[in-house]
Amino acid sequence: MNRKLYTVAVVGATGAVGREMMHILQQRKFPVGKLVPIASERSQGTSVKYAGNSYDVVVLNPDAFKGVDIALFSAGGDRSREFAPIAASCGAVVIDNSNAFRMEEDIPLVVPEVNAQMLSSLPGRKIISNPNCSTIQLVVALAPLHRYARIKRVVVSTYQAVSGAGQSAIEELNSQAKAHLEGGKSEKKVFPHNIAFNCIPHIDVFEENGFTREEMKVVRETKKIMDDQSIAVTATAVRVPVFHGHSEAVWIEFESDVDPEKAREILTDAPGVTVVDDPSAERYPMAIDAAGTDPVYVGRIRRDFSIQHGLNMWIVADNLRKGAALNAVQIAEVLVSNNLI
Ligand SMILES: NC(=O)c1ccc[n+]([C@@H]2O[C@H](COP(=O)([O-])OP(=O)(O)OC[C@H]3O[C@@H](n4cnc5c(N)ncnc54)[C@H](OP(=O)(O)O)[C@@H]3O)[C@@H](O)[C@H]2O)c1
Repeated sequence: MNRKLYTVAVVGATGAVGREMMHILQQRKFPVGKLVPIASERSQGTSVKYAGNSYDVVVLNPDAFKGVDIALFSAGGDRSREFAPIAASCGAVVIDNSNAFRMEEDIPLVVPEVNAQMLSSLPGRKIISNPNCSTIQLVVALAPLHRYARIKRVVVSTYQAVSGAGQSAIEELNSQAKAHLEGGKSEKKVFPHNIAFNCIPHIDVFEENGFTREEMKVVRETKKIMDDQSIAVTATAVRVPVFHGHSEAVWIEFESDVDPEKAREILTDAPGVTVVDDPSAERYPMAIDAAGTDPVYVGRIRRDFSIQHGLNMWIVADNLRKGAALNAVQIAEVLVSNNLI
């Protein structure tokens, strides 16, 4: 990295992803000269701590982006649609966590371990999209296998933590679980049904084809990031009563044979992946172990006997870190190390 220091805006700084972003910027010693934490009017008058300093939260407005070099957006799609172009026109490079621009042709959708080459020059609109949390961990594991023996089809079932729905969803699981155990009354605000002691096969809105938007994000984004529209992908996305860490049961059909041992070898060497696969010792990836860590964990790798060239596996990652904030900061690191900003 060069020695320049950057003015970094975090839009959504008081939220689950925004807080993790600031944490990761510090942990990875990103060259932040000045931090501009941005949130809604609800956070006016509050401050956030960063690297020993206190920064007043700025209410989102066009002037907030003056002098900003990098704007990390995680305040929802509507805010991104309105303010990301404004931030870019003020000179900032935007890395956006929402789904506002992900499928637009001229917007790179980047997971550095898979398609960092999309960042060899800055995109014209100066907006880079961070993929959906479930997609990120999936493609980190799929891409090295796809390079070895082309993937024909992927079936994925997700088991997604409540933190994927933001800070208020974490609080909802907490209060529902407490109310359930203490015999009190529980409230539902974030999820359509009780999430404590339950699994809800419904994340984001339903589309006309019967899939949820979350499921279709996994389908569409996987093909775009892996730059291969011919891969067939189908998904079921389920919210589970876990605070941190998304898990995925994944069935992969390859064009030619991939031995489970070979898959373990490929994944062991793959960037961003940690293989945890020793069932005899009861060792496999689990959300509780992945929480607070960076890798995408892969285990339970086994032959799918129901098809000719198939493997089954279990993929787990911290949705707030690799699924959101870490991936965004890694994108910023690629830009900085290539002197693109
Ligand atoms: N959670 C995940 O695992 C995950 C993963 C990938 C992508 N994302 C995306 O990241 C974004 C944020 O998610 P989150 O989980 O961090 O949500 P969250 O915990 O609910 O936080 C939302 C943040 O956005 C701010 N905000 C909301 N409305 C605003 C407005 N009108 N003007 C300015 N700021 C506003 C909030 O500020 P106040 O505190 O002032 O209300 C807060 O800082 C969403 O687009 C989400 O889809 C989340």
